[in-house]
Amino acid sequence: MCGPEEAVIGPSEECVAAQSPVDEIMTRRFACRDFCDAPVPRRTIEQILHVARFAPSGANIQPWHVYVLGGAAKARVSAALLDAHETCRDEHVSEYKYYASELPDRYLKRRQEFGRLFYGSLGIHQADAEARSRQTVKNYTFFGAPVGLIVTIDRRLEAGSWLDLGMFVQNVMLAAAGRGLQSCPQETFSKYHRILRPLLSIPEEQMVVCGISVGKPAGQAQRLMPRANVDEFATFLGLDA
Ligand SMILES: Cc1cc2nc3c(=O)[nH]c(=O)nc-3n(C[C@H](O)[C@H](O)[C@H](O)COP(=O)(O)O)c2cc1C
Repeated sequence: MCGPEEAVIGPSEECVAAQSPVDEIMTRRFACRDFCDAPVPRRTIEQILHVARFAPSGANIQPWHVYVLGGAAKARVSAALLDAHETCRDEHVSEYKYYASELPDRYLKRRQEFGRLFYGSLGIHQADAEARSRQTVKNYTFFGAPVGLIVTIDRRLEAGSWLDLGMFVQNVMLAAAGRGLQSCPQETFSKYHRILRPLLSIPEEQMVVCGISVGKPAGQAQRLMPRANVDEFATFLGLDA
């Protein structure tokens, strides 16, 4: 059990001392894949973007652009992507590579654990390609969230600007969590940039990086994924224990 000052960060007994409201929000956020249909007002999204833009960026170039979709606009996008996924998914490919072709062992193991936990939680056997595909399709309906964001970046920018963009995306998700909402970052949208471009009038120089679903989580939704311990990724030098 977690003590009164601790926030549960996983379905296991894992706890972390959340010592500030920011800690609490960071540990409360999770990739939500089941939203209820409670509306999120435009004003709330404007506030989220208002604070998220304080993300740092090299030389303050602020390399992000966001398309905010709700109502009929979101429904149009979902319908087009669902159709493409159904009829010609193999003709579409992302403009960037998210994963290394050969994941080093440590990351491969984590990806395998992700698969076990994720599909296990849904009662889907990992060998059941059909059931996995039915789950993947839910990405394109933004998992039922009332608001979907499509995030783009200028293709002329370099890797450093992608770091900046990641910070912005995280800020969006934390600002959402701070308002009792949840989110899911989704690289799955990048694959369908040829469909999204005309639908959203995305200029040629912008690359579709990801989507973000935003809304109120459905009752059962919770964090599934554990994290490596600090001593597995941090090397301390010159600090007393
Ligand atoms: C840039 C990025 C892209 C992601 N793309 C997807 C996606 O397309 N679909 C999905 O269901 N989850 C996606 N995720 C969510 C990850 O699977 C999730 O963050 C990870 O498993 C850790 O879980 P947690 O965020 O709940 O702690 C993405 C996460 C990031 C950071």
